[in-house]
Amino acid sequence: MKPLEIVKDIYWLGVVDWNIRDMHGYSTPDGTTYNAFLIVDEEIALIDTTKKDFADELIDRISQIMDPRKIDYVISNHTEMDHSGGLPRVMHRIGEDKPLYCSKMGFKNLSRHFRQKWNYQPVEDGGELSLGKRTLSFIETRMLHWPDSMFTYVKEERLLFSSDAFGQHYAGPSRFDDEIGEAIMPHAAKYFANILLPYAPRILKLVEKVKKLGLALDMICPDHGIIWRKDTSKIINAYVEWSTQKPKRKAVVVYDTMWHSTEKMAEAIVAGLGEEGVEARPMHLRSCHRSDVMAEVLDAGAVVVGSPTLNNGLFPTVSDFLTYMKGLRPKNKIGAAFGSYGWSGEAVKLINKELEAMKFELIDPGVKIQYVPDDQGIEACYQIGKKIAQALSG
Ligand code: FEO
Repeated sequence: MKPLEIVKDIYWLGVVDWNIRDMHGYSTPDGTTYNAFLIVDEEIALIDTTKKDFADELIDRISQIMDPRKIDYVISNHTEMDHSGGLPRVMHRIGEDKPLYCSKMGFKNLSRHFRQKWNYQPVEDGGELSLGKRTLSFIETRMLHWPDSMFTYVKEERLLFSSDAFGQHYAGPSRFDDEIGEAIMPHAAKYFANILLPYAPRILKLVEKVKKLGLALDMICPDHGIIWRKDTSKIINAYVEWSTQKPKRKAVVVYDTMWHSTEKMAEAIVAGLGEEGVEARPMHLRSCHRSDVMAEVLDAGAVVVGSPTLNNGLFPTVSDFLTYMKGLRPKNKIGAAFGSYGWSGEAVKLINKELEAMKFELIDPGVKIQYVPDDQGIEACYQIGKKIAQALSG
């Protein structure tokens, strides 16, 4: 693959990871990209690197433009290994003494990761670096999504290198929003739900800060997926909407089942929700990946969780999902629990405890049914679905 000139003398050098299917517990059925960029000015800057395994591919791509040793500066917007794992190889190739710009926390974190005495140049929020015709401005974006995260802005081009923010795990042939169109938005939403959701309040503050700074944005270049150039406000507005977490009249019924009893209950709840006009879908946790469930949870007003009781506890996939969802801190949800059991029946109580810990509003004590639900049991589940739907209306 060749470097791609995204504006005059600024190149996308990213590598495409077609085959990754799991990014630390997030399913990536469409692979991803690790985007790095080269700015060729009177002085030359490399923005970010790639995963370690792709470092030689990145160096090869730089070599198609110039001798990598001509690079004057390396900018590390984020320490996580999908963007800095290639640093040792890149620094070795371009010169270990080259200045390495990063945030103050980036300095600490890169030092801890690599134990290398590189020529670190920690920058303050608002710090600048002139390349000649263009100036790089650094914007600290702490906890979006690591303490070290920062953006790099090129005011002359109205272009933002946004690190993980505004990214998507997508490895298709498109490189720009206008090439893929609306089809990119589910990828962007899933990425937000699984990576940025816990930091939603910070995102709203950041958007305000960017407005106050009056930064014009003709192009947003994230470290994963496509570049936004047709309408940068589209993804910013989507981030504001997702961060606000205004609940929609939509429910996710997520569950696992041993011998189909809890499954029957899930389907009856979905039918009750549907009867009241609420968009709802049952998501079986051995058919739907936890990260796909979270993509649906993002704008849902209700999350209904079902588990059979197994060895006096939760079914393991349900425990896994609840732990994962709790870490992502969704807000403004109502919730309920359900599940079948043989002889002890702790699952509903355990789910309720977890939902309460997540500050979900429980609209019912939940429904538990011994062994196989009969008509009366199915009706109870159906009524719970209707009750949830009515609570969503209110
Ligand atoms: Fe794409 Fe936080 O790394």
